[in-house]
Amino acid sequence: MINNREINIIVAVGNNNEIGYKNNLLWRISDDLKRFKNLTTGNNIIMGRKTYESLPKGALPNRKNIVITHNTELNYENCIMANSLQEAIEKADLDKSIFIIGGERVYKDAYKECDYLYLTKVYENFKADAFFPKIDFSEWNVIETEKIAKSDKNEFAHEFFKLKRKQS
Ligand SMILES: NC(=O)c1ccc[n+]([C@@H]2O[C@H](COP(=O)([O-])OP(=O)(O)OC[C@H]3O[C@@H](n4cnc5c(N)ncnc54)[C@H](OP(=O)(O)O)[C@@H]3O)[C@@H](O)[C@H]2O)c1
Repeated sequence: MINNREINIIVAVGNNNEIGYKNNLLWRISDDLKRFKNLTTGNNIIMGRKTYESLPKGALPNRKNIVITHNTELNYENCIMANSLQEAIEKADLDKSIFIIGGERVYKDAYKECDYLYLTKVYENFKADAFFPKIDFSEWNVIETEKIAKSDKNEFAHEFFKLKRKQS
C-alpha cells in the first residue's frame, strides 16, 4: 500500500528479470498485450517518463495515464504529470485501481510496497539494459498461473502469474 491505496504492478520479464533494451520492450507477445489491455483498461496507469516516451502512439486510450518526471515543464497530451511516485498515487482516481506499468526506475521504487504483482515470465534470455528487481517467491502467494506454449501467435513460451503479497 502507498497512501492507503492498493498498488498493482504489471510487468513482463525474461529469464534474468530483463525488461527492456534501448528504451524498448524485448518482445511482442500478443497474448501478453491482450492481458495488459484487459487488466489496465478503465484504471489508473502510472509510468516513468522514459516508458511514456517508448509508447508508439503516446497515452494509452481509456485509461488515466499518469507520467512521473522531475521536469516540471513537461506536459504530455492526455496525461497527468507528477513529480514523484507519491504524487502520482495522490493524483490517481479513487474509484479506479492503480497499475504501475514501468519502467525499471519506477518498478524499483514501487516493488517493496506493491500488493499484487501481475507478472509475465517469458522463458528466454534477452540482451537488456533494464531489469525488474529480484522476485523472492517466498514473499508471495500465487493466486493464478497460466502457461502458454510457443506458437505461431506467440513467439516465446511464457507464463502469467497473479501474485498477492503475503501479510507480514
Ligand atoms: N517488460 C515490461 O513489462 C516493461 C514495462 C515498462 C517499461 N519497460 C522498459 O523499461 C525501460 C525503461 O525503464 P527506465 O528505468 O529507463 O525508465 P522509466 O522508469 O520508464 O522512467 C524513468 C524516468 O521517470 C522519471 N522518474 C522515475 N521515478 C521518479 C521519481 N521518483 N521522481 C521523479 N521522476 C521520476 C524520471 O524522468 P526525468 O528524467 O524526466 O526526470 C526518470 O528518468 C525501457 O526499456 C522499457 O521498454 C519494460
